[in-house]
Amino acid sequence: MKCHFTIFRFNPDKDKAPHYQEFTVNAEPTDKILDCLNTIRAEQDPTLGYRASCAHGICGSDAVVINGHVGLACQKLVRDFKSANNFVIEPLPLFNIIKDLIVDMDPFFEKHRAVHPYLISDDDAPETERLQDPENQKVIEPALRCILCASCTSMCPISRANPDYLGPAALLRSFRYIYDDRDTATGSRLAQMDSEDGVWGCKTMWWCTDVCPKGIPVTKCLGQIKRAIKQNKK
Ligand code: SF4
Ligand code: FES
Repeated sequence: MKCHFTIFRFNPDKDKAPHYQEFTVNAEPTDKILDCLNTIRAEQDPTLGYRASCAHGICGSDAVVINGHVGLACQKLVRDFKSANNFVIEPLPLFNIIKDLIVDMDPFFEKHRAVHPYLISDDDAPETERLQDPENQKVIEPALRCILCASCTSMCPISRANPDYLGPAALLRSFRYIYDDRDTATGSRLAQMDSEDGVWGCKTMWWCTDVCPKGIPVTKCLGQIKRAIKQNKK
């Protein structure tokens, strides 16, 4: 079937303003949107800029806006859309454009680094690994599925309004360590969360949960951080 693609284009080195470019490709209903982008770049315009790597929903690099909805181009099929012949592809909102569908992820990863995304332990190092209790693993399992695609943060209205807000992805990563009972930095992690730039910035609007391609209950996890802060103060 013939599919019509309208794709956001912007090369800051050459263009005065963004514009949209039209492409037509032959695609099967089971083709991924990423397959279509690959076809366009291979056969029609090698200058089309977008990120992708694994093509299987693992690396988190190809989140874009497809017909107004954030999604991974490698997870969405042509047949997933009602208007399966017409697609508008745009970059993630919130972030600056580097080129076409490629956005500047540096601010996103700076916030990720700010929450110390690694296990911190004052306990003596064991001879082998630090074993985790299976029941505790179940608590943090949803957060472990995060592939740092930035879909949640890009759509979060609080992130758009407050540039200092850590954003749902970074807060979720903090949740992952706050609730990991091998981590001994819980107090300082909760203190970092205890502000409007931290978890209290979350107004439970659920947009992050709605767009997460890994089905992570992000808002619920942030609610658990709020409860932990309150319990820690009792
Ligand atoms: Fe992407 Fe979901 Fe992780 Fe947010 S929580 S970065 S939407 S995988
Ligand atoms: Fe890796 Fe889509 S290309 S998640």
